[in-house]
Amino acid sequence: MASALTSVILVILLCGSALGARTKLYSSNGKDGGSALAPVADDDICKSMVEPQGYGCQEHKVKTQDGYILSMQRIPVGRTGETPGARPPVLLQHGLLMDGITWLLNSPDQSLAFILADNGFDVWLSNTRGTKYSRGHTSLTPNDSAYWDWSWDQLVTYELPAMFQYVHDRTGQNIHYVGHSLGTLIALAAFSQEKMLNMLRSAALLSPIASLGHITSPIARNGAENYIAEEFYKNGIYEFGEAIAKLLKKICKKPGINCYDLMTPFTGQNCCLNSSTVDVFLEHEPQSTATKNLIHLAQMIRGGTIGMYDYGDEDTNKEHYGQSIPPVYNMSSIPDDLPLFLSYGGQDALSDVADVQVLLESLKDHDRDKLVVQYQEDYAHADFVMGVNAKQLVYDPLIAFFRLQ
Ligand SMILES: *[C@@H]1O[C@H](CO)[C@@H](O)[C@H](O)[C@H]1NC(C)=O
Ligand SMILES: *[C@@H]1O[C@H](CO)[C@@H](O)[C@H](O)[C@H]1NC(C)=O
Ligand SMILES: *[C@@H]1O[C@H](CO)[C@@H](O)[C@H](O)[C@H]1NC(C)=O
Repeated sequence: MASALTSVILVILLCGSALGARTKLYSSNGKDGGSALAPVADDDICKSMVEPQGYGCQEHKVKTQDGYILSMQRIPVGRTGETPGARPPVLLQHGLLMDGITWLLNSPDQSLAFILADNGFDVWLSNTRGTKYSRGHTSLTPNDSAYWDWSWDQLVTYELPAMFQYVHDRTGQNIHYVGHSLGTLIALAAFSQEKMLNMLRSAALLSPIASLGHITSPIARNGAENYIAEEFYKNGIYEFGEAIAKLLKKICKKPGINCYDLMTPFTGQNCCLNSSTVDVFLEHEPQSTATKNLIHLAQMIRGGTIGMYDYGDEDTNKEHYGQSIPPVYNMSSIPDDLPLFLSYGGQDALSDVADVQVLLESLKDHDRDKLVVQYQEDYAHADFVMGVNAKQLVYDPLIAFFRLQ
């Protein structure tokens, strides 16, 4: 969920005052004060977001083959403690510019991570490289441009498999997966290459993203068509997001600005957010991503295909891929008997209906009894993780689906 911040920033970029403002905003290296992120008293996700709600929580560290050190949180049991029987592990993967807090924003009765724990699941939260709690690396720091030299291809190749392996090793069980937004794209791409299938029980995809060619979000489309991310990259800005949080908070404090509305041009009109939750959301998000990751997504918006990162010239592509154009991810290669639960929204401007239809078309030979597709007419992108009625509409059916697998 790239949401508010990106929309604000792109509005600023696209509505003039661009060049001067851009330089000032994006190359500021903390000159006007420290970290972009709100200070929290207890600085990890277990202490700040999980334990205060009455749940046990463990912090874990996972190393990827390409050297990133990621944090994961585990909520092993629900509020009532141990229940008889094995607790199936569920891995929750957030979307773009978000982190594991995505699943903890509402009350325990409304937030998916807590609901799953209370329903007998062993819950694991991932945090993508570059986000606040996953900025470690065996040899690089986020100050190194090489630290940011990745797009979602590397999440498919290295990151998601590392987290699957870790959870599988710790629990000895196959895993149910829940992805939101970019968290669905990387899973679909990995499954299409038959990665992780031996550790997977089923997958739920909320606001599924595969092809982006029909995206309706004016901000995302304008950003892509005007090569905004490429412009950042050319200017040496490889980390995207750090300055945005600070800027957004400043804007939201101004009288007459409603931060709830700022999300709309990016996510679509969310029906069902609690404005208190939006405030909590803004305290913790957005998180950083690689500018290169945004360039990759922009390539998909412009091209309408689901290809690997395009280095922009044939020779460099050949170096990386052995062919002059980037290989594509073929979603029709996802095994037909993989249990999939898809929920998409009628108002979603990022996972728009037309692109979801393209995905569903490539799943047309999927076993009928292994594919559940849900359409939420009123839902936009953020409703799937923050909607006050998401439990009734989406999570209860999702849990019923998991129990059948
Ligand atoms: C990154 O750079 C900043 C400012 O230049 C410095 O304060 C910080 O210690 C550096 N961080 C690391 C991990 O090297
Ligand atoms: C919205 O959030 C506030 C603060 O957590 C809570 O008191 C209120 O009950 C929530 N409203 C709904 C409709 O869930
Ligand atoms: C994608 O995979 C399907 C099923 O394996 C295959 O029939 C189709 O030819 C593939 N498409 C491309 C473009 O490779």
